[in-house]
Amino acid sequence: MAKTILHMLTPLAHMSPFDVNMAADAGFDVVATYTNVTLAEVSPLTQDAMFSRSPRDALRTGIFIAGKDAFLALDMLDAAAKSLLKPFEISLFADPAGSFTTAAAMLAVVEKTFREKFGRGLAGAEIAIYGATGVVGTAAGVIGALEGAKVVFVGHDGTARVTHHAAELKRRFGVDVEVADGSTAQGRRAILGGVEIALCAAKAGVRVLEAADVAAAPKLRIAADVNAVPPLGVEGVELFANGAPLGPHGALGIGALAIGNVKYRTESGLFKQMTDSAKPLKLDFRQAFALARTLA
Ligand SMILES: NC(=O)c1ccc[n+]([C@@H]2O[C@H](COP(=O)([O-])OP(=O)(O)OC[C@H]3O[C@@H](n4cnc5c(N)ncnc54)[C@H](OP(=O)(O)O)[C@@H]3O)[C@@H](O)[C@H]2O)c1
Repeated sequence: MAKTILHMLTPLAHMSPFDVNMAADAGFDVVATYTNVTLAEVSPLTQDAMFSRSPRDALRTGIFIAGKDAFLALDMLDAAAKSLLKPFEISLFADPAGSFTTAAAMLAVVEKTFREKFGRGLAGAEIAIYGATGVVGTAAGVIGALEGAKVVFVGHDGTARVTHHAAELKRRFGVDVEVADGSTAQGRRAILGGVEIALCAAKAGVRVLEAADVAAAPKLRIAADVNAVPPLGVEGVELFANGAPLGPHGALGIGALAIGNVKYRTESGLFKQMTDSAKPLKLDFRQAFALARTLA
């Protein structure tokens, strides 16, 4: 049997050691990393990887797209997909900064809790996303909006940059996402008061919501946080919280390591799908969410 080989491409100076470990532990025999890769270089690299092996062994070859920019990663994934030629097709997977699998895990755990504890699905749910210009927040917004949620991107420095992100989501996925100004404590509290679900995907070590904000939000049902670096993103939501009571109005908290557990298995599971699949795969946050739902 031919060895399984993963070519890991990043536009950054370094490939993430986390993703290298994950790929090797998931079963790839050989992992090669390529740094400072431009969008224009993705196609020739992909074709170089696929033409070197017989069509039978092509399926045991994969391309992974990393980085720190959700839109660039999606463009690189599309560039790789467009450069594939039958019968040499290989599998492709984008997960920049682990964000697609993290966002998928966050939405999957939130969905499970919302359904089990409140009898509701994501369709029609009112969701505020803090840290929306980051890779995790952006991916979480697309997944939620594609599931029919009413998503609001909260801008920590005003609405200009989240408006740009919302327009990009509309252009790429045809989804509507609202924006709100979270540059002041008063603004963040007002936004929280109008939603059922708060997803905190802000920078590591940044507290986004205080206990008093949660106490002033009677409609809030779930607050989920992916920041594992103190201070945590939501006061009162501990790392391992998985539906723990939060505040005086019956809300529930989901913490970074409860989400991380599902994220880890989702990323690992998608790598395993690449090595085991009988047909070429193209994996992004959509396939990540489909798998995370089965793991949550
Ligand atoms: N639990 C897990 O499994 C897991 C896995 C991966 C990542 N994470 C965590 O997920 C979070 C998001 O990751 P990421 O890669 O998307 O991070 P990121 O690129 O650093 O972006 C985070 C977001 O936070 C915003 N932000 C920066 N300073 C802020 C402030 N003072 N107040 C509010 N928002 C602020 C950023 O805005 P700008 O656009 O202005 O920078 C951006 O929108 C991080 O906490 C990361 O550690 C968790």
